[in-house]
Amino acid sequence: MAIICNEATKFFALETMNSTYAMQVGNSGELLHVCYGGKIDCTDDLSALTQRPDRAFSPSPAGQGRSNSLNVLPAELAGFGSGDFRMTACRIKKANGSSVTAPVYKSFRVYNGKPALPGLPASFAAETACRTLEITLEDLFSGVEFLLSFSVFDNSDVIARSVKVVNNTSETVEIENLMSLQLDFDHADFDLLYPQGNWAYERHIERMPLHPGIQSFGSVRGSTGHQYNPGFVLAAKTASENSGEVYGALLVYSGSYTADIQVDAFSGIRALLGINPENFCWQLTPGAEFHSPEALLCYSAEGLNALSAQSHKFIMEHIIRSPWKHAKRPILVNNWEATYFDFDDNKIYAIAEKAASLGIEMLVLDDGWFGERNDDNSSLGDWFVNTDKLGDFAALVKRINALGLKFGLWFEPEMISEKSKLYEKHPEWVLCVPGKRRSYARNQLILDMSRKEVVDYLFETIAGLLKEIHIEYIKWDMNRNLTEIFSAALPAGQQGEVAHRYVMGVYELHERLLQAFPDLLIEGCSGGGGRFDAGMLYYAPQIWCSDDSDALERIPIQLGTSLFYPCSSMGAHVSVCPNHQTGRSVSYDFRAALALGGTFGYELDITKFTAEEDKIIREQVAAYHKYNDLVREGRFFRLSEGFGRTNCAAWCWVSDDRQEVLAVAVCKQARPCSQEPFKRLRFAGLDAGKVYTLEDGRSFHGSTLMNTGIDVTVALSKDASCVMLYLKAK
Ligand code: DGJ
Repeated sequence: MAIICNEATKFFALETMNSTYAMQVGNSGELLHVCYGGKIDCTDDLSALTQRPDRAFSPSPAGQGRSNSLNVLPAELAGFGSGDFRMTACRIKKANGSSVTAPVYKSFRVYNGKPALPGLPASFAAETACRTLEITLEDLFSGVEFLLSFSVFDNSDVIARSVKVVNNTSETVEIENLMSLQLDFDHADFDLLYPQGNWAYERHIERMPLHPGIQSFGSVRGSTGHQYNPGFVLAAKTASENSGEVYGALLVYSGSYTADIQVDAFSGIRALLGINPENFCWQLTPGAEFHSPEALLCYSAEGLNALSAQSHKFIMEHIIRSPWKHAKRPILVNNWEATYFDFDDNKIYAIAEKAASLGIEMLVLDDGWFGERNDDNSSLGDWFVNTDKLGDFAALVKRINALGLKFGLWFEPEMISEKSKLYEKHPEWVLCVPGKRRSYARNQLILDMSRKEVVDYLFETIAGLLKEIHIEYIKWDMNRNLTEIFSAALPAGQQGEVAHRYVMGVYELHERLLQAFPDLLIEGCSGGGGRFDAGMLYYAPQIWCSDDSDALERIPIQLGTSLFYPCSSMGAHVSVCPNHQTGRSVSYDFRAALALGGTFGYELDITKFTAEEDKIIREQVAAYHKYNDLVREGRFFRLSEGFGRTNCAAWCWVSDDRQEVLAVAVCKQARPCSQEPFKRLRFAGLDAGKVYTLEDGRSFHGSTLMNTGIDVTVALSKDASCVMLYLKAK
């Protein structure tokens, strides 16, 4: 990695392992984007890339003649209202009411390492493993400064980018819009890929050609949401899993965001990613600073699998901080789908006892253990043990620990029930417009996490319990999104800050708990995968992927999640059949094939198991111990392309030394057996020259496995059939 700066020509380039990202200051002072893609030689004259001929209806700044209109030049941080009619990346409102914004170059500096973003999750690296270029731009209209930071990392193709706004002026301004990422291209020959879906249907990958105009997705929910994920890929039209140019962008943020891709009138692209300007406005007093969340950019010339691998590696090395990130997670059993709210200490202990006998390593007590919560009508906020239900809780946990099991507990810290002691005491802590209608979801209201005293209360209550009881894992849930976003604690002029301050409050609570309990394993959750993002992964190394635990449904969910996020971060469990979400029944093998691809655990009443089921679970536990190092640390490949038009999917993990491989192939829906198409599993990422041996004794060269593949027609000839193949190289 390197950063190239030419002070005389005001040219800057970021070099990663396989890419170059270049910028240059244009004639009118704006920082222009020169190019981004495969590596180039920056000593070549690239100035033509930042020149544009005269275009009709495209104004130019005074003194620039008729060419070089800001409306056609590729920019790095497009201002507002000064000749660039495309989407804008920053907008500052002055005391005189004007929002015209025109950031122009002022200075730059380069340094080793990268600073943390105050109050926000962001990538980190040792000083020697990362370099940062900071370019300062000054708004011609307000005098406010934008410090654009770009960091590059050793052995990575990821570039981290964020923007700091500093108000060095003597008047208060308002940030109306500030995008973390802007990426302009001079052509639009791309497909757009992005994860989309809904509750229990998260992160299905959508691929579509770009079309003129704006294609946009995002969230105004105060959380990233189940519906879209804060990232996208621009892929060359011919790009596939294993070939072609692809560009990925991912926001390290867990609140409302927007991702916008505009194909402009000259068939170029402007892509933006950042905090959603809808319901966002930040007052910046003289001397104050504001940091945008960080955005990550990545380029690959070798298709989507290579992009995902870069993203996984980066998230593992530079985003997830937890001491658990490289560790094998305890196999857990969660009581939710086994009991819902209907349990007592005897039932929980019985689950634990059975779990211990099966080799399960942790019991997680889900919703319903606190206050008077026997359904979803009450008690959120009252994080005190329901002793009627659980008796002496500390003693129960000790008995569970004595079985050799760890103990984990569910919380939904950000929420409050109207029927709760907390609400009786602090109705003003609810996020709402006082005296006006409020919206309920799952019968609950939301705490105003922008208030310091709310975060303090939650910290003290949760930390108090963690000090008293031996809790080694927390499932941190969030079962609704924000409405009536208003804080009684902030003045009128700062109400546009509440949604972002809420997210900062959530981050602060995480941070304080982790400072106090550094080994605590937190699993993020939001009604399943409603807040699966790189921001949360900074605090929680794993996130419950989806409330849909049907293994068949999990295929697109987990494959879609793998576009950006590593398998070790995906919460995945074997649940009961018929499945509670879909009513579908599939084999234990099939359920394990999916769950073993994530953190692994159980979510069903194991006390009801037959002897045969006990045997199956013990085998699955053994499989977890055998394969999990590979799943956590190996390189992941989606292999479904090899299956043509069959209803199959496949994936594999390959160890760094390419000695070990685990492949999973699944058939979702079979055709009548005499009509089954031939199915070949084609591997990726192997060493072509090595000979790999399957557990049944067959051996093939890596080249054969990758270019021809092996026949799995019979193994995949039934609905929800699967095959797991473990190979070792000699
Ligand atoms: C939603 C989660 O996704 C479930 O796993 C479970 O924890 C429930 N909430 C509990 O209310």
